[in-house]
Amino acid sequence: MAEFRLPPNSRIRKGKHFAARAGATNTRRFAVYRYDPDSGENPRLDTYDVELDSCGPMVLDALIKIKNEIDPTLTFRRSCREGICGSCAMNIDGGNSLACTWAIADVKGDVKIYPLPHMAVVKDLVPDLSNFYAQYASIKPWLQTQSPPPPDRERLQSKEDQEKINEPAACILCACCSTACPSYWWNSDRFLGPAALLAAYRWLVDSRDEATGDRLDIVDDSFKLYRCHTIMNCTQTCPKGLNPAQAIAETKKMLATRRQ
Ligand code: SF4
Ligand code: SF4
Ligand code: FES
Repeated sequence: MAEFRLPPNSRIRKGKHFAARAGATNTRRFAVYRYDPDSGENPRLDTYDVELDSCGPMVLDALIKIKNEIDPTLTFRRSCREGICGSCAMNIDGGNSLACTWAIADVKGDVKIYPLPHMAVVKDLVPDLSNFYAQYASIKPWLQTQSPPPPDRERLQSKEDQEKINEPAACILCACCSTACPSYWWNSDRFLGPAALLAAYRWLVDSRDEATGDRLDIVDDSFKLYRCHTIMNCTQTCPKGLNPAQAIAETKKMLATRRQ
């Protein structure tokens, strides 16, 4: 197998190489970002030759095999392995996605795996999502009402109204979109990013919610909302096929209507 080469001028060191056992056939090479902030050393790329005949089909299967059989020090998040928890989001082959739904067969050549971009790294493939979650909390992602609930039933909504929240409510908070957004890269301290703004929209269009004015007030800010320049990376990268860019555009329209 050809030697893995880092791009020229990379500040990532070349790391250890873990070769497959002698005589192994049908192997793929995985180049994986490694970083331990406690070590005081620069990040490095370790390479692992994984035998595919004894590995599941997804990138997450290979990472689990590496951790279980080759290098137990490798650190990454995962939980459901069904594309519903959002834990295994990472940068695979240059794009943000879920390792559990990305097939190894869909990557040509070496499989390059990095943490989600432009985030502080806790260790290896684990990004620090504290700010991301705080931004989600800031949009108050729960039903807010002033009117008393019906005495004999839940607050109902029509099928048509339910369909308005169907798609935005399918967000799994994986952070693939926000970490693919150039505006978020440079202003993540002040721009809420597409994931939090999609969540804000989900409550803005919920027919049962009675805090629309307050919700619009929260996002009506030159940085929180208007740092979105409709670059569309968010929608292109979402592994659930959602459209945060459209939700942001609709939110801007609601604010424009309110100003008239
Ligand atoms: S559409 Fe807006 S939120 Fe989405 S990537 Fe572009 S700037 Fe970021
Ligand atoms: S909108 Fe898509 S990419 Fe963004 S957090 Fe939700 S599921 Fe992930
Ligand atoms: S492990 Fe849950 S989305 Fe991948």
